[in-house]
Amino acid sequence: MHAAITAVAGHLPDHILTNADLVKMVDTNDEWIRSRTGIEERRILKEPGLATSDMGAEAVKELLKKRGIDATEIDLIIVATVTADMHFPATANLIAHKVGAVNSWGYDLSAACSGFLFALATGAQFIEGGRYKKVVVVGADKMSSIVDYSDRTTCILFGDAAAAVLLEPTEENGIIDHKLHVDGSGAQQLRQKAGGSLHPPTHATVDAKDHVIYQDGPSVFKAAVKGMADVSYEIMERNQLEPDDVAWLVPHQANLRIIDATQRRMGLPHEKVMINIQKYGNTTAATIPLCLRDWESKLKKGDNLILAAFGGGFTWGAVYLKWAYDTKA
Ligand code: UT7
Repeated sequence: MHAAITAVAGHLPDHILTNADLVKMVDTNDEWIRSRTGIEERRILKEPGLATSDMGAEAVKELLKKRGIDATEIDLIIVATVTADMHFPATANLIAHKVGAVNSWGYDLSAACSGFLFALATGAQFIEGGRYKKVVVVGADKMSSIVDYSDRTTCILFGDAAAAVLLEPTEENGIIDHKLHVDGSGAQQLRQKAGGSLHPPTHATVDAKDHVIYQDGPSVFKAAVKGMADVSYEIMERNQLEPDDVAWLVPHQANLRIIDATQRRMGLPHEKVMINIQKYGNTTAATIPLCLRDWESKLKKGDNLILAAFGGGFTWGAVYLKWAYDTKA
């Protein structure tokens, strides 16, 4: 038995932050942002009082509507995020409550930009074990809550969004293989320095801006190019997939140049790569399910998809799945 994605949905906040808007905020320009990252605009959750769980709940409600099932049928909700509403309770609990998933349990999973893949592989185990029939995997991040909008090296990159998939048992197709990695030595290069048990919040940590994203961009870039390209190639090799066998690469959307390097290493043509970074920027755990949502109508039953990501931690990996359904017109 395999676990298959049987529905996808997403939620994007209405407010659009364009490159032109950022030019008014920091010393940058549209040409630099486009050529170095591929990003043109991103969505920001501006309304006070709304958080990651609100975007996640909207995505799950849409998911249930699309699949035509009730929230009470959900067995488990796994939420990949680095911008939980609060340290505890878990955002999964809040989403379950907001959508009325009263028969579900759930938990959050922290793997930054690889979070959705880690959560997908984890969710699949519950289905494959035979005891779970409906597992919801959410990737959701309100990155604007941890971005320093005076730091031009990071504020141009990130956006807010949520997306979700439903996993159900299937005899054919579904998730075939995954190859996931962590390397904690990368923690120094991409992290939120304060706010956890190591450096609890103090006036000094706030004054030092230690609660925002710290990233050594170039060193993360080098690790990401190698990590994402290698693991994508390795999962193809392990499953005897030639470039012609792969219908789509579904890459994490951090930087167009990282995506291009992965595509080249896999020997795929550009037309087989899902790219929407220009519209949403890097939405961390939401990028991959948002791609699936945007491309859903083009996906055909039996299509071979390689999902690949690299992120803070370091975390990286790839998932190989066979798409399980044709979208009804
Ligand atoms: O998803 C989680 C994992 N994260 C990633 O995968 C991100 C990986 N890193 C990257 O995508 C890239 O490193 C960045 C997009 C963050 C930066 O691109 P880069 O090509 O590595 O640029 P750089 O940091 O080497 O900076 C090149 C130049 C520098 O100026 P000098 O020293 O050459 O004069 C920067 O100060 O560009 C300057 N710069 C900017 N200029 C205009 C940095 N940020 C900006 C900016 N606008 N926003």
